[in-house]
Amino acid sequence: MRSGPGHGLPKTVGRTPRADPVPLHGPPAGVAGRFSFRRREVYVSRLQAEHLYKVFGARPDEAVKKLESGTDREELRAEGTTAAVIDASFSVDPGQIFVVMGLSGSGKSTLLRMLNGLLEPTAGRVLFDGQDLTALSAAELRTVRSTKISMVFQHFALFPHRSVLENAGYGLEVQGVPRAARNKRATEALELAGLAGWEKAWPDELSGGMQQRVGLARALATDADLLLMDESFSALDPLIRRDMQDQLLELQKRLKKTIVFITHDLNEAMRLGDRIAVMRDGEIVQMGTAEDILVTPANDYVASFTQDVDRSRVLTAGAIMADSDTAHGLRTEGGQELRTDEDVLAAAPATVTASTPIIELFTPCSTSSVPVAVVDEEGRLVGVVPRARLLAVLGEPMTPAEAPASVAADASAPVTGGAPALSLGKEAASA
Ligand SMILES: Nc1ncnc2c1ncn2[C@@H]1O[C@H](COP(=O)(O)OP(=O)(O)OP(=O)(O)O)[C@@H](O)[C@H]1O
Ligand SMILES: [Mg+2]
Repeated sequence: MRSGPGHGLPKTVGRTPRADPVPLHGPPAGVAGRFSFRRREVYVSRLQAEHLYKVFGARPDEAVKKLESGTDREELRAEGTTAAVIDASFSVDPGQIFVVMGLSGSGKSTLLRMLNGLLEPTAGRVLFDGQDLTALSAAELRTVRSTKISMVFQHFALFPHRSVLENAGYGLEVQGVPRAARNKRATEALELAGLAGWEKAWPDELSGGMQQRVGLARALATDADLLLMDESFSALDPLIRRDMQDQLLELQKRLKKTIVFITHDLNEAMRLGDRIAVMRDGEIVQMGTAEDILVTPANDYVASFTQDVDRSRVLTAGAIMADSDTAHGLRTEGGQELRTDEDVLAAAPATVTASTPIIELFTPCSTSSVPVAVVDEEGRLVGVVPRARLLAVLGEPMTPAEAPASVAADASAPVTGGAPALSLGKEAASA
């Protein structure tokens, strides 16, 4: 069973009094192995949000105290105060894509703007590589923003009288990088963004999708480790949008940036996100992998997002499998009793890995009453998928109590940190 930060999924995130903070340090499983830690060195995520609040309106500090003691957001609104972000805590590891999803007005952009210091939090902290952004002077913050953090917006404003190359190099120009070096890096970034050969073109010669690629190139050219993307693909046509998602995933394989991506589209969230935070009315109501959110949505609000998702392509065998013991005692059509894991393996109608999308399990499941076998890289049995379970996950979302052990495990663990608990068939995650 998995344990430790980040694996306690899914969970509903309630308000935690700041006197009793959610633990934010300690290497999540899967990450510790990729880094060497000197003794007594504290592991730090690339990006951490600690109990962030943003209140717009009169007496914001007072409003935070009220929120902490349980006052409803609506009560504050009646007083003319907007609680845009309420007690948001999470951490993003190097190389992860962390998606924030929610309806319009749920606080996504406000949260993102606090992450790069464009908005000062009313309460809470933002740590980037362990450095508290909220404690920096305006000048220090500008330096961090221009060198380490890049933003890509929904409507990327290109300068109409500058060439594509000059537009892509704009962030470097702001940093004072000399022209030759700037052009070299901008050219490389344009190539990464799929725009090689367009350097001399003017923005109005490009389609909307290509303009958005210039925006992406501008963010990549600065070498910033942290990319903050606010609805970056939302204004694009569906096919171009898919292309851009593919491009981002492809780039991410090579560049391994740390990305916070905002969207109101669950399919996009599931395609891109290693982890997804769902926001409602300023609060993070669930945080987990795509599978966690699909299999055990924390509430009706989250469930309503999942209705149009093709579960059979997003969920994997690993997410729904049961312990192999559950197959012991079953009989084959020929009457042979399955006593051991070897028997189960031998009788299984198909052998798959944990990352196989469940759409591939239907045919084998329909031909045999013996469950499909799920094996690891060495071919050892790690679980089974019985037909009934396969059908059940395609129906109604489950409550945590009904969910397979692999998903419902550790439901009481802390909410922050962590690598994805299960591998998701990302390629297949767009329905
Ligand atoms: N500068 C501001 N002054 C007052 N209220 C604000 C301000 N900025 C945002 N808000 C309010 O905060 C709440 C969250 O807004 P935010 O823009 O973060 O939502 P969002 O999730 O990004 O929405 P969308 O999907 O429409 O972009 C909204 O109620 C909004 O009206
Ligand atoms: Mg927004």
